[in-house]
Amino acid sequence: MADRAPRTLWHGRMASGPDESLLAFTESFSFDIRLWRDDIDGSRAHVEGLGQAGILAGADVGAILAALDRVADEFASGSFVPVPTDEDVHTAIERRVTELAGSAGARMHTGRSRNDQCVTALRLWVRRELREVAESVIGLCDTLGRLADEAGTDDDGAVVPGYTHVQRAQPVLLAHHFLAHGWALARDADRMAEALARADVSPLGAGALAGSTLPLDPVANAARLGFAAAFDNSLDAVSDRDFVAEALFCLVLAGTHLSRIGEEFVLWTSSEFGFAVLDDRYATGSSMLPQKKNADIAELARGKVGRLIGNLVSVLTVLKGLPLAYNRDLQEDKEPLFDSVDTVKRAVRAIDGMVSTATFSRDAMARAAVGGAIAAVDVAEWLVARGTPFRDAHAVVGRLVRESAGDDERLAALVAAELGEDAASLLDGRQGLLRRTSHGASGPSAVRAQRVRYAERLASLRRRFGDR
Ligand code: ARG
Repeated sequence: MADRAPRTLWHGRMASGPDESLLAFTESFSFDIRLWRDDIDGSRAHVEGLGQAGILAGADVGAILAALDRVADEFASGSFVPVPTDEDVHTAIERRVTELAGSAGARMHTGRSRNDQCVTALRLWVRRELREVAESVIGLCDTLGRLADEAGTDDDGAVVPGYTHVQRAQPVLLAHHFLAHGWALARDADRMAEALARADVSPLGAGALAGSTLPLDPVANAARLGFAAAFDNSLDAVSDRDFVAEALFCLVLAGTHLSRIGEEFVLWTSSEFGFAVLDDRYATGSSMLPQKKNADIAELARGKVGRLIGNLVSVLTVLKGLPLAYNRDLQEDKEPLFDSVDTVKRAVRAIDGMVSTATFSRDAMARAAVGGAIAAVDVAEWLVARGTPFRDAHAVVGRLVRESAGDDERLAALVAAELGEDAASLLDGRQGLLRRTSHGASGPSAVRAQRVRYAERLASLRRRFGDR
């Protein structure tokens, strides 16, 4: 049986083939098949390097490259057939190249280990995928900028209550609120760009852990693969998964920002708030309650952060305490990474669609954002402008609010009686909003200036991602 069965890469060392339980437990082909394109790119660079160094004859290089092209076609068309001993995608590709190219194929792995090979492929994958995520995040930033423009930044722009502790605190421009989420996501894209810069290092040529006696040129191979640099230390090259942990952190923080948008939409679309209505394409119904329209995208943006956090913790736990250099534990880097990339990609798309098609009720927001005690601090600051120490002004207005017992008209009457009509007129909230003009504040002129800076930030992020 062992003779005819497909052989492991290490069959020479073993008297018998592997037990089925070993294959079932240790295989990664079922998920690292997603790396096929990247493995083939890495293998091309390696084989070209072997040719350049004179380690492989030109004919062998040609035969291997042709076989790699063929294998790429097989993966792309879905016709690639794995065998049980293809424990991972790297093994599968080498096995198939050897079937196609014969003895030339058997030379492909010269000077290489799966330890540098698998992490080369994974870095190539991250470089492509994290960039795609970042670009979609920037797209969502654009959507939020557009929503801010639609909400308006003139003196009659839409107003929404700003909250602290989920208690109405001060009125702000709705545009200001949208941009607040936009800045958080812009930082996510920025963070991804920085993580990508650190991921942009080629480990190819580190071998199993110590480099090679063959005249390989890792720097030339790095350039072949378009990496910014080659590794500096072979032990570090095969054991470093910082780029995975960093990508996962970028993804979980972006997911966290999406969850905060989601939570607000859950609140805003409730009957209690009535600030927003979802487009039917981005809402779900109830199987039993005919009247229901639910914000499931928003809820899952919240709910899926659980797995994103889990994925980061899972990889950090694998890395913690691992001795140098490669250990098989490192194979556990992939599934959490794939899952977080998939989850955040889908979440960004769905949230983008949900927010960009929602209808916002300016009236409901305005009713909640003006009148009553929401402008209490404006009255206190009015007193400050007339020489009262802030602490005393706070106490005076606080007492009037308490005496009004939640009755807006009574508060207006009390303020008018004690401080005069000018002070009472501030209670509509609009006046105070218009006067919040300092840098980064929520009033119209400040928000217009902020909007310009926001557009500049997005343009600079685009330039950062534009050059590859
Ligand atoms: N599938 C493995 C991984 O992803 C490849 C490397 C295996 N190396 C080894 N020496 N067993 O980490």
